[in-house]
Amino acid sequence: MDAATTASMLHTLQDPTGIPSHPLIFQVLMVFTWIPHILFVNISLGAALMGLYALTKRQDPHWQLFSEAMTKVAKVGVSLLIVLGVAPLLFTQTIYDPQWYASNVLSAAWVIGFIFTLTIGYLAWFTFYMKNHGGHAPVWAFWLGVLGLSMFLLDGFIMHVLAYQGLHPEQWLAWYTPGGKVDMSGTGIHAYELPRFGFFMAMSVTVFGAFLVAYGDYFKVRADRAPAYLAFARGLGTKIALTGAVLQLLFLLWWLMDVPAGIHIWSHPMTWLLLAYLGVLVAAMWLARNKAEGQGYRLMALSVGMAALVAIFREVLRMAYMSPFHYNILDYTVHWDVPSFALFLFTMIGVGGLMGGFIITLVYKAGRVQGAYQADAGVSKLGTGSLASTVIWVAAFLGVGIWIWLRNNG
Ligand code: HEM
Repeated sequence: MDAATTASMLHTLQDPTGIPSHPLIFQVLMVFTWIPHILFVNISLGAALMGLYALTKRQDPHWQLFSEAMTKVAKVGVSLLIVLGVAPLLFTQTIYDPQWYASNVLSAAWVIGFIFTLTIGYLAWFTFYMKNHGGHAPVWAFWLGVLGLSMFLLDGFIMHVLAYQGLHPEQWLAWYTPGGKVDMSGTGIHAYELPRFGFFMAMSVTVFGAFLVAYGDYFKVRADRAPAYLAFARGLGTKIALTGAVLQLLFLLWWLMDVPAGIHIWSHPMTWLLLAYLGVLVAAMWLARNKAEGQGYRLMALSVGMAALVAIFREVLRMAYMSPFHYNILDYTVHWDVPSFALFLFTMIGVGGLMGGFIITLVYKAGRVQGAYQADAGVSKLGTGSLASTVIWVAAFLGVGIWIWLRNNG
């Protein structure tokens, strides 16, 4: 399909009712809410792989302990990555609805299969987790763990396909009507980009390595965690992080070479910023490789910075792919809906901020205490505040709904 027809198709597919606030707000939220999603994807995939690998070396008590701990990390991580995937999903489908929905419909069977494979994968992983205690995990439980990880990888690949197919609207019609015949099965995987998917897998290696170093440091205050075990985890972490950072740099170069020349990605400053940052990351991981002790959360903070740049780069790339079709989110029709936007903002900052802040603080502090944890005054206040904000939110939510209903039916 030529560029002009593709452009008019994209604009026709946009929601005719428009969006309720400025598109830039959705774009910024989309980019920044994706960061926690991908960080938990990275930590979970790394922990799952290492949890399984460590089990094969369980004769050594450190590896056994490590296997149990990482199995648990992946169990918690996957549940969080799912929850944290919802926000960017909502924002993506608001400003990139033609891209997201067309891609989803073209591979509908995979999208529906995503739910089932994720459920099966999580159940398999949970069973493995239940059995992986005290070095007694039976062989079948190990294979269930392998099944779980395979499903998570498949789901990551489906996510990648959905994102990538959305970048090629000029091909949608050909994919929908192969050989001139309409194919409504939705069973096709029409396009994927190995270097791009490989980059996110390599990123899992880096982020997981940095996470391990932070993990070793976090538990230092706990008497029931042997210093030798924590040093073992930290040492492993620095090596894994270095390997990941190098792999990421290589995959990024391959990815950039794979992007069509017409996209002009090499002339974008974000490309060079990301390349330079990865260079710095490799150097930081190299310097830390034999000095795992005392790194604290530094490598983790560097990884979070890297994830932020990757998130922005993904969006820069999408905008570049869309520009030949004159698809600019700033052109989106806006019908300001101030009350719903205000409610959304207050929900995010008030309820989300307070409740999220409370849970993170609580989990962080409780995990560093052996046995029962007694909340201090600050945490208690945060708990009371978050509960109060939730009550106010429920009252406001119902109140606005009842008020509108009465106004329309009165
Ligand atoms: C084990 C499960 C999952 C894995 C391994 C995974 C992994 C990934 C990866 C690697 C990407 C980047 C793809 C690319 O840019 O090429 C991605 C993007 C994304 N994921 Fe996930 N994901 C998982 C589950 C979920 C779930 C359950 C949700 C939603 C509830 C979700 C929402 C998103 C969104 C919205 C994007 C960005 C799409 C876009 O910008 O076009 N993911 N995910």
